[in-house]
Amino acid sequence: MALMDWSPAFSVNVRQFDDQHKKLVAMVNQLHDAMKVGKGSEVLGPVLNSLISYTASHFADEERLMQQNGYPDLARHKAEHDKLTRQVLDLQKQYQTTKSALSMAVMSFLKDWLVNHIQGEDKKYGPFLNGKGVA
Ligand code: FEO
Repeated sequence: MALMDWSPAFSVNVRQFDDQHKKLVAMVNQLHDAMKVGKGSEVLGPVLNSLISYTASHFADEERLMQQNGYPDLARHKAEHDKLTRQVLDLQKQYQTTKSALSMAVMSFLKDWLVNHIQGEDKKYGPFLNGKGVA
């Protein structure tokens, strides 16, 4: 069973970002599946790295579009991206250092990290960008 499912409640009403969020959900599920069947660090490490690099490019895409459209809460949104990035890089560093198995606590952290951000800050830019003709 997947750790998390995409739900229409996650939609930010901007197609490009809904698609990217769906991919992030799929990547967290992929990591969870690999953890569940006891895959070693040779599998988990690269999956975690892909998740982190896809997240970085997703955050950059959002920030670019918000900036291009003069989104007034860009600074706050970017500060949250920066904090989330620091947290996940810490996690990666910890993982690389200990090479211990990823725990369910880590998976729950990643799930909450994604869901809370999408349902919080991300959902706020939808109506603003829609008003600028972005859908
Ligand atoms: Fe979808 Fe602000 O990250």
